[in-house]
Amino acid sequence: MRGAMSVTFRVHLCFFLLSLYVLKGQSRYLEEHEITPERVLSLLNSELKRELSDEFVYRRPLRCLDMLVVEGQFTFMADRPQLSCAAFFIGEPNELISIQYDAANIDCAGGDFIKIFDGWVLKGEKFPSSQDHPYPLYERYVDYCTTGSSRRVIRSSQNVAMIFFRIHSAGSGFTITVTKLINPFPCNVISQTPEGSFTMVIPQQHKNCSFSIIYPVEIQIAELSLGNLNDVSLKRSPWGCAGTGDFVELLRGNGMDTSKMVPVADLCYSFSGPAQMKIGCDNTVLRMVSSGKFVNRVTFQYRLLHQHELEKLRGNNLEDFCDME
Ligand SMILES: *[C@@H]1O[C@H](CO)[C@@H](O)[C@H](O)[C@H]1NC(C)=O
Repeated sequence: MRGAMSVTFRVHLCFFLLSLYVLKGQSRYLEEHEITPERVLSLLNSELKRELSDEFVYRRPLRCLDMLVVEGQFTFMADRPQLSCAAFFIGEPNELISIQYDAANIDCAGGDFIKIFDGWVLKGEKFPSSQDHPYPLYERYVDYCTTGSSRRVIRSSQNVAMIFFRIHSAGSGFTITVTKLINPFPCNVISQTPEGSFTMVIPQQHKNCSFSIIYPVEIQIAELSLGNLNDVSLKRSPWGCAGTGDFVELLRGNGMDTSKMVPVADLCYSFSGPAQMKIGCDNTVLRMVSSGKFVNRVTFQYRLLHQHELEKLRGNNLEDFCDME
């Protein structure tokens, strides 16, 4: 696939460069932009080199506890019984993770297993929470031992996934290939980095999306648009946002499950202009609840809190829970 695509790309590039050269070859354009045949060839050569390195597959052993952020082929080979292993996968917000079994040599009858989970589980808490994930919990686990070769490729619903495995005998193991696919409508996301910006859009769908930042951060909402600005039903109600089907909430907590986190702000009216908050927790989540009646959109940015900001937050607040301002 990739080889074929890059050949097509190469042919396009070749035609593009040649047509430039032929059409403009004798003109001043050429001198000004230094498009010489040598330059054309060197561009082509560097493109060819890029293609070669593109086809190079990154390979490395998988560890019993691992975090994977790059595409590649990963092999786990037990050198002794490994009863509780897990590898976490994470991509960019607009990527999905695809995991393919290339080979597996494990003893399912003897209690070995390999399970892929659509999301992350940390200390028993899941992301996305059951409230926000499109599939029921049992469908989010794919057990190699029960599905066998019928599901050799498993694709996540968001930018994170993980694999759990237990292998009793030395010499047993498996190989997977991890690739990333573009997700045109990212919904649930864990940010790889403590700073960035993101626009979440829910286009007239009845669903909820959570953007999780697993660092203490300052988050700034630049713009929020919930349906039509003039729509009466979206006016601020005296009971807060609870009665409205469309709102954004900021949550804070120290676990992964958004349904167990504490709301710190509810926003159920459109605005533009920054609204910001510092949250000194392990996990800060911006969650959008959408009724499906409107196109909802929120744009925000976030950055890591400095040590002195964290200390100030802690000084302000005697709660034993994580602090905010
Ligand atoms: C979205 O979340 C709200 C409140 O948190 C909940 O009532 C609703 O059922 C959820 N919607 C979907 C589609 O899961």
